[in-house]
Amino acid sequence: MRISICENYCEMSKEAAKLIASQINLKPDCVLGFATGSTPIGMYHELCEMYKKGEIDFSSVTSFNLDEYYPIKKSNPESYNYYMWDNLFSHVNINPQKIHIPDGETLDPDKECEDYENAIAHCGGIDLQILGIGRNGHIGFNEPNDSLDTKTHVTYLTESTLSANSRFFASIDEVPKKAITMGVSTILKSKKIVMLASGSSKHHVIKELLSEKVNTAVPATLLNIHRDVVVICDKEAYYGNDTEKC
Ligand code: GLP
Repeated sequence: MRISICENYCEMSKEAAKLIASQINLKPDCVLGFATGSTPIGMYHELCEMYKKGEIDFSSVTSFNLDEYYPIKKSNPESYNYYMWDNLFSHVNINPQKIHIPDGETLDPDKECEDYENAIAHCGGIDLQILGIGRNGHIGFNEPNDSLDTKTHVTYLTESTLSANSRFFASIDEVPKKAITMGVSTILKSKKIVMLASGSSKHHVIKELLSEKVNTAVPATLLNIHRDVVVICDKEAYYGNDTEKC
């Protein structure tokens, strides 16, 4: 695992966007795995700017998002579907036929999970997966547990995640209690993984991740068994408030 410590959120976002742009320029028909949450918003903004300047072409790119609340309407501004169109897809020339986001409106979530997993395999797997990290160490919506589901599945959100994500909703009661998420092995099958972390609220969990111990109680630590992971974080996430080293 490599770590890149950036001066601030803005630098972190630029560095991540550059990695995605390099991937697209290297392989225009690549498969990208996208993440949501507040952390990657700056990166998506950078990608939109690069696209406007003619520096990247999304026309042959295929995308798979990590997760989606369940149930949730696509028209709900808090859905990850809405988020992706709002922050990226509406502003670049990605082919809508090549966009994949778990369907939060499906009546058959188990079939949706199976189809999603098969669709990723059918496209040859993910070339570059972007990840954020939950304060409890979740990746996608793979929450801390004694054992972790490997494939795309329906999961219950923990109290910690419901509480952290309630900041986007009118109240905690409006946060959907479940989600559809890629599983840990779905994520680990990606050829390259880029994790973003910003702010001192992520310091504790970044410290755990970098301790190299693998523990399902902190799902992100499973990334330690992958051979090509880069963590791009800002100084606050790496050093914490007190600028002590990890
Ligand atoms: C959500 C998403 C995760 C994301 C996490 C962190 O729970 N399912 O994929 O990494 O939030 O979000 P933030 O970047 O807002 O801290």
